[in-house]
Amino acid sequence: MTGARELSACRACGAQLRSFMSFGRMPLANAFLAPAEFSKEYFYELKPALCGGCGLFQITEQPAPEQMFHPQYAFFTRTSKSMVAHFGAYARWVQTQFAPNFVVEVGCNDGVLLETFARQGVQHLGIEPSANVAAVAEKHGVRTQVAFFGEAVARDVRTRHGAADVILAANVICHIPDIRGVAAGVAALLGPKGVFVFEEPYLGAMIDKGSYDQIYDEHVFIFSAQSVAALFRPFGLELIQCLPQPTHGGSMRYVVARAGARPVTESVARTLALEDMQGLQRSETYEHFRARCERNREQLVGLVRDLRAKGHRVVGYAATSKSTTVLNYCGLGPDDIEFISDTTPEKQGKFTPGTHIPVRPHEDFTRRYPDFAVLFGWNHEAEILGKEQAFAAAGGKWIKFVPGVQLA
Ligand code: TMP
Ligand code: ZN
Repeated sequence: MTGARELSACRACGAQLRSFMSFGRMPLANAFLAPAEFSKEYFYELKPALCGGCGLFQITEQPAPEQMFHPQYAFFTRTSKSMVAHFGAYARWVQTQFAPNFVVEVGCNDGVLLETFARQGVQHLGIEPSANVAAVAEKHGVRTQVAFFGEAVARDVRTRHGAADVILAANVICHIPDIRGVAAGVAALLGPKGVFVFEEPYLGAMIDKGSYDQIYDEHVFIFSAQSVAALFRPFGLELIQCLPQPTHGGSMRYVVARAGARPVTESVARTLALEDMQGLQRSETYEHFRARCERNREQLVGLVRDLRAKGHRVVGYAATSKSTTVLNYCGLGPDDIEFISDTTPEKQGKFTPGTHIPVRPHEDFTRRYPDFAVLFGWNHEAEILGKEQAFAAAGGKWIKFVPGVQLA
């Protein structure tokens, strides 16, 4: 099945999009499936572009959100220990900086970020479109409303609970195609001194590392300080702070407030200047990026097939959403990669989208170590290599592909 719509105009400012490459036919990144579903799999074309007006990086074809964040959506933030620690620190940072009385989170997932506020009795509300994920948040004492955040929902929340002191988000704003609706919602819900704090995979980091696996259906946008500032400006909102984060292989935390309501910190000018120097607005930056992706694909496929030809066992480690882009772009299947080890019960026993590699429990990895493991969860490298020292001790080698293909 196919049938997504291709856009030629920017979702934020309406200017012409400049496409610079295609990753080809792509399934939904999180659509892990059973063999009975192989024949009716959904595909679209993964084709990123840069807006010629506001500089917002976005994919041009994108399936309806209802296809992606359905009631069986399989992503749970709590599965990573380092992410849980990160969200604890994020919540404490927000408390120290803004001491909010009412916090709303857009896309609260399993409640890991709001939990800190909930435990301290701070009034809060998580807006989460996936009912099964929201139910987990509720179990952890986090109050939720199952909905897609936008202007209408924001007005409704304001009417029922009052204006928000802080609106929070983490790795979710980039998922929402109606990005103007998000900005309008923030403008509607925020109190006069309120702030919108969100962190998302950062375009500067992706270009720097060549981490093209950040690009998939759920990441409709990959933000930069420049595109964020431009996005909120028409809504009377201003970017006042940028704070780089190590999560997801390089993210940025943005703070947005009503224009003139709070001082703009020097981090904004500094980040904008760095983005200029990095050439985030220049077409040739993306031509280089494309060439780097092609080279990366050649090297990864070459390495894996060479190892297989020599009779080595190669498995994958962590069936991440990102791995769907890599596997499908590289055309790696079950003949190349025996299985992918993953700790999420919902994914185990299923097969990877498009490439149909079995996903198996972590015990299958430790029971009989393979010779090589492709580190699809490269953004959790420290955590993973730390707990898998026995694999290395047994002679196992990691195959990394970010920032380049290498054995470790
Ligand atoms: P992501 O947050 O990069 O998308 O990765 C999430 C997936 O990675 C999730 O299915 C759980 C899996 N994972 C493991 O299997 N083992 C690990 O040690 C880590 C950190 C993640
Ligand atoms: Zn634009």
